[in-house]
This record gives sequence, C-alpha cells and structure tokens, in this order.
Amino acid sequence: MIIMTPILLILLGATEMLQADLLPAEKISLLPPVNFTIKVTGLAQVLLHWEPNPDQEQRNVNLEYQVKINAPKEDDYETRITESSCVTILHQGFSASVRTILQNDHSFLASSWVSAEVHAPPGSPGTSVVNLTCTTNTTADNYSHLRPYQVSLHCTWLVGTDAPEDTQYFLYYRYGSWTEECKEYSKDILERNIACWFPRTFIHSRGRDWLVVLINGSSKHTAIKPFDQLFALHTIGNDEQKPLRKWLLFVFMATICLILLILSLICRICHLWTKLFPPIPAPKSNIKDFFVTPNYEKAGSTETETEVIIYIENPGVETLEDSVF
Ligand SMILES: *[C@@H]1O[C@H](CO)[C@@H](O)[C@H](O)[C@H]1NC(C)=O
Ligand SMILES: *[C@@H]1O[C@H](CO)[C@@H](O)[C@H](O)[C@H]1NC(C)=O
Ligand SMILES: *[C@@H]1O[C@H](CO)[C@@H](O)[C@H](O)[C@H]1NC(C)=O
Ligand SMILES: *[C@@H]1O[C@H](CO)[C@@H](O)[C@H](O)[C@H]1NC(C)=O
Ligand SMILES: *[C@@H]1O[C@H](CO)[C@@H](O)[C@H](O)[C@H]1NC(C)=O
Repeated sequence: MIIMTPILLILLGATEMLQADLLPAEKISLLPPVNFTIKVTGLAQVLLHWEPNPDQEQRNVNLEYQVKINAPKEDDYETRITESSCVTILHQGFSASVRTILQNDHSFLASSWVSAEVHAPPGSPGTSVVNLTCTTNTTADNYSHLRPYQVSLHCTWLVGTDAPEDTQYFLYYRYGSWTEECKEYSKDILERNIACWFPRTFIHSRGRDWLVVLINGSSKHTAIKPFDQLFALHTIGNDEQKPLRKWLLFVFMATICLILLILSLICRICHLWTKLFPPIPAPKSNIKDFFVTPNYEKAGSTETETEVIIYIENPGVETLEDSVF
C-alpha cells in the first residue's frame, strides 16, 4: 500500500499531463458567469443564482458551471443550470464562488472565479445559545387518517455565557417548506427561555430532509447572536457506496502487494535453491519442473490482476478528486 500510493499518484499526474497536451488546438476562451448572487430563502437555506456571460462565444459546446462553497464548510460540485440551492448553517456567514467550465474526456477549460457572500448575522460574541440538543418522538396518531403518526420535537439549550440577564430567546424549526415558531417554552429562574416543546410538527419521521433549528434572541442592552443547527433525521442509503469503494480499492491494492511480495520471495528461494544445489543431471530437471509450474500460475494470476486495476482506476480517481477539493 505504501509503495502503491506514490505509484498511483505518479500515474494520475501523468494522465493529467497527457490530458493537458490533448487540449484542442483552437482554444475557446471561457468567460466567468455574471450577476452572481446568494439569497437567503429560508432558515439555513440559500439560493445561488448567476447568468451566463453574455459575451461568451458558444460554438456548439456544452458549457457547465463549477460551484465551490468556501464557508462554512467546503464543498465543490458541477451543474449545467444557472442556480443551485444549499442547506447550510448561516450563523457564521456563507461564501461561494462559481466559474464556467468546459470539459470532455480529454480536456478541461475553466474561466476565472466570481464570488459572493452572505455576512454572518450581527450580535455580540458569547450571546448566542450553546449546547443545543433536539429530540424527536414519533407516536401513532389514531385521529388522523392522512397521517398515521405524529412527530413531536423537544429542544433544550444553555443561555450564552455573556448574554445579558434580560435576554429572551426564540426558537424556530424548518422542515422542508414548513417553518414554525415555538409556542411552548420552559424558562429558567430569570424567565429566559431554555427549552421548547412542539407536541406536533410537520416533520416526516422517515423523510430525508434536514431538520433545521434556529434560535435568535433579543435584549435591551446588546444584539443577541442567532444560532442555527442542522439535524439529520435519517442517514441516506447513497453515502454508503463511497466508503465501500475505497475499501475495495484498498483490498485490491493489498492483494496486489501481497502477490508481488510472494512472487519476489519465490524468486529469491529459486535463486537460493540453485545456489545451494548446483546442477546435477537427473534430479535437477524434476526440481526445476516442480518450481516452474507454480511460477507459471503466479504469472497468470498477475495478468488477471492487471485487468482488475484498469477496471478500478476510475473510482480511484474519483476518490482522490473528492479529497482534493
Ligand atoms: C445583470 O444585472 C444587471 C443589473 O441588474 C442587468 O442590467 C443585466 O441585464 C444583468 N445581466 C444579465 C446577463 O442578466
Ligand atoms: C456544553 O458543551 C461543551 C462542549 O461542546 C461541554 O464541554 C460542556 O460540558 C457542555 N455543558 C453542559 C452543561 O452540558
Ligand atoms: C414518546 O412519546 C410517548 C407518548 O407520548 C412516550 O410514552 C415516550 O416515552 C416518548 N419517548 C421519548 C423517547 O420521549
Ligand atoms: C392509539 O391506538 C392504540 C392501539 O389501538 C392505543 O394503545 C393508544 O392508546 C391510542 N392512542 C391514543 C392517543 O388514543
Ligand atoms: C428570529 O428569526 C425569525 C425567523 O427568521 C424572524 O422572523 C424574527 O424576526 C427573528 N427575531 C429576532 C429577535 O431577531
């Protein structure tokens, strides 16, 4: 594995250099998109929108866009359309870049980046809530035929250490297109809200949407910094494939290394054997036959392994790209 990784990297580098050489002679110059904006469309949700550059020559090519999320969490993806919706926490601000790209099997061209951002909401440090935890509880609902179950939501939090005594907090949740404000709070001795209970919500216990919880607040003395958090109600069935592919790659590499090791060992033993027992007419040919046969089989098996490497090369490249961006 330790030996194979640099080799793979060198191979990758070589492939990229080859690809660079294969760029079409008549280079098309790519211009960045224009009017790139980021709009907050809901709790912890933004819409990125841009327009194709009006001066971009088209020349019958399929232009795409590469979107790079810079903050709060790096992400990178490609799209053919000119907008993209993201679910993300916003209390630390949000920033993203987009560029025009043109790619096919042999080449990759890209324009310069254009960027936009949503500023972190104002508020004094230490005033936002901490240690927010939320739990949902699904119970059978005998009174509704449309929805045979009900999901309740219970959240608790701690008051920010530097929040003034008169601070009041307000909790909102969003699930899909539904946003609701909390109506049943529990309070601490200073009458500040520190927990919330929704007996019924719009949450689907088997849905795949994120549950978003936002807590903002107010005080006469200072601006209270809002806090938002995403909760995954269910881990989705697609992410499981990637670790599996990485694992398979690892197993294949390990197998190949092991086979190489065994082959080299066999070679050494062969050499040692010929040195220890120099050629004697009759028994020698028997010994030779004995050793030639397994060697032959091993050679056959390396050939099959080579085919396997070619087959797994693409997933391998993808995995590496993922970790690069
Ligand atoms: C970009 O925005 C400006 C001002 O809002 C507008 O005049 C212009 O038409 C827009 N460009 C495109 C390509 O939509
Ligand atoms: C709040 O969370 C921090 C770490 O996130 C932890 O160290 C601390 O003990 C928690 N406080 C309480 C009261 O649970
Ligand atoms: C969920 O709600 C049911 C019915 O109200 C209750 O009996 C159960 O203890 C709750 N479970 C949790 C984990 O809160
Ligand atoms: C709903 O029906 C179940 C079984 O029929 C029963 O055990 C439960 O108490 C009922 N719940 C309510 C809230 O009526
Ligand atoms: C808290 O957030 C909600 C939802 O975005 C908003 O309607 C409300 O005005 C905010 N309250 C404060 C005190 O900032």
